[in-house]
Amino acid sequence: MKSQQLVKTAARAVAILGVMVLATMLNGSSPVQAQDNQEVLPTDEASEVEIGLRISPVPLNLAGKNLNLVGLGSYIVNAVSDCNSCHTGGGPPNFNYAAGGNPYFGQPQKTDPTVYMSGGQDFGPTVPPATPGAYAGPDIISRNLTPDKTGLPEGGHTLAQFKQIMRTGIDFDRLHPTCTQVRPTPEPPNCIPAPVDGDLLQVMPWPTFSHMTDHDLDAIYEYLSAIPCIEGPADPTNPLHNDCG
Ligand code: HEC
Repeated sequence: MKSQQLVKTAARAVAILGVMVLATMLNGSSPVQAQDNQEVLPTDEASEVEIGLRISPVPLNLAGKNLNLVGLGSYIVNAVSDCNSCHTGGGPPNFNYAAGGNPYFGQPQKTDPTVYMSGGQDFGPTVPPATPGAYAGPDIISRNLTPDKTGLPEGGHTLAQFKQIMRTGIDFDRLHPTCTQVRPTPEPPNCIPAPVDGDLLQVMPWPTFSHMTDHDLDAIYEYLSAIPCIEGPADPTNPLHNDCG
């Protein structure tokens, strides 16, 4: 590193530290105000877009799409948030990777495009039953996020709904409502016993994703609209089924 660069980097580190100290002092009571003399931190979005477009493991339908948003979305989905590790339809031994492309086996990394983002990973029940054999509720299964024949991603949800999902965890499909009773028969069907709030998506890291910017969520949605549709199970009543048209 050239000495000039080193000074710049050091100055930037001091500036960031200053903001962090200030933020700690304010203890989140009010947003930190930008200082007039503060150097604007460079955004690396152009390189993120470039990486995103390069690493997408599936061909992209870019017709009518904003290329920069698609690229940024791919970067967030494939390089940062690991959405496909949970939302893949692939099982053991390679899960989201193609045969011969499993990096954990020391093989060159290749994601399996045939199950990419199509859901179906089973995480078991939300909470272990209080007593052995007691009702635990349904298994939590990741959803099919690929676009359907309307072109809308993740089960035909709009951008506004997608943002609400990512910010609040709301389950618009109501696949597992909270039980109104557990004995003698759990009601309603497929219910989750309290204290779990069955209106909220479980396992899905929405509490973390809720902090993403609007721009990031726009980008993820644009990317998820550009990936190929995967039909999933042929049974149209299966929540993982997607109508590819
Ligand atoms: C740790 C595993 C995990 C990761 C990582 C993950 N998800 Fe999920 N996601 C799930 C599960 C499980 C569900 C279904 C939860 C349920 O049924 O309660 C879900 C549900 C969703 C839903 C709701 C779908 C619908 O039809 O309503 C969306 C949207 C979603 N995830 C998007 C994403 C995106 C985008 C990312 C990456 C930025 C991501 N998820 C990363 C596990 C995960």
